[in-house]
Amino acid sequence: MVSIAKVLLAVLGVAVVVVLIAVPTVIFLKEEEGSNMRTFTLFDVFNYTLKPASYNMKWISDYEYLHKETDGSIFLYNVNTNMFEEFLNRDKFIARDASDYQLSADRRYVAFMSNYNKVWRHSFTASYSLYDRQSDKDITPSDIPDVVQYFAWAPTGNKLAYVWDNNVYLKTSPESPREQITFNGEPNKILNGIPDWVYEEEMFSSNRGVWWSPGGKYLAYAEFNDTLVHNIEYSWFGEDQYPSTISIPYPKAGTPNPVVKLFVVDTDNTTIVTEVVVPASFSKLEHYLASVTWVTDNRIAVQWLKRQQNHLILQIYDISGSSRNPVEHLELTSTGWIGRVC
Ligand SMILES: *[C@@H]1O[C@H](CO)[C@@H](O)[C@H](O)[C@H]1NC(C)=O
Ligand SMILES: *[C@@H]1O[C@H](CO)[C@@H](O)[C@H](O)[C@H]1NC(C)=O
Ligand SMILES: *[C@@H]1O[C@H](CO)[C@@H](O)[C@H](O)[C@H]1NC(C)=O
Repeated sequence: MVSIAKVLLAVLGVAVVVVLIAVPTVIFLKEEEGSNMRTFTLFDVFNYTLKPASYNMKWISDYEYLHKETDGSIFLYNVNTNMFEEFLNRDKFIARDASDYQLSADRRYVAFMSNYNKVWRHSFTASYSLYDRQSDKDITPSDIPDVVQYFAWAPTGNKLAYVWDNNVYLKTSPESPREQITFNGEPNKILNGIPDWVYEEEMFSSNRGVWWSPGGKYLAYAEFNDTLVHNIEYSWFGEDQYPSTISIPYPKAGTPNPVVKLFVVDTDNTTIVTEVVVPASFSKLEHYLASVTWVTDNRIAVQWLKRQQNHLILQIYDISGSSRNPVEHLELTSTGWIGRVC
């Protein structure tokens, strides 16, 4: 005979199981019903609604950085003292319709950037207005045209360089008049201070073709001659009734590459421009300017690469001496393929 106690125990066991299943289910269903959380789709990823958390910062010393707050103001943070203070009010950005800024190394001047227009992967044009933090005044006229292709403060002080209409300009201070360094710039033919399409995309991965020496005495700049490079053309279906034709010098295998030259201008006397000459063994061959790095304020390290990309020369030139002779030379050859030495 089955005892009453055993039956009761079995019933209790079944009840416990039912409760264990039912309660979480009810809670779960309830949550789903009452929640205002929405599911997400791939579109949320593509339009950047869903993205990893990030934090924007520009280091301006070993222990200080600038951070753009969500309201658009810039704050200066000191990581030694954990103190922070407002550095640029958001109204300064709103007044100039500025989307970004660059601070001079001496922290006195701000170049506010507006009218950003994307060109290729890295390149863009923009307008820059100069603001003096000390006097709380704009520098007018700034002497900087509206459609600038590249802008860079010197690594010390407040000299600046920019590229406009494919020519390089510099100002030894925001208040000084601009000095034009190159004169032969021409769209899709001669580009000074900015890379052409192929150098931007395949060599530098950057929109930069000027390099300040660390102390700001010299500015190196590249000149690209794309005159003989064949063009690729395509239709651009923009806003107008008829599409326009975009034409880009685009070398393919067996056709001419851009011809590159490297120059250095002395900012103390901008009529003194020195060509940093490619090593003789490459001068008659098609070659690339692979990288430019200042070693000191007088010495510049340049990597030149044969078009075949099986032979690279890294050469250090002394700019201050009268001869501009190479002072160090390293050659790499390969039966395979060499990229840049980083
Ligand atoms: C992004 O896409 C999602 C899904 O289509 C949409 O709900 C959301 O509002 C979009 N966000 C923005 C900022 O466009
Ligand atoms: C650019 O290359 C073309 C074709 O070789 C040449 O005629 C022209 O003089 C070059 N321009 C410069 C500034 O070197
Ligand atoms: C700049 O350099 C040129 C060429 O060396 C020289 O003739 C000129 O006097 C210099 N100008 C100044 C202001 O030093």
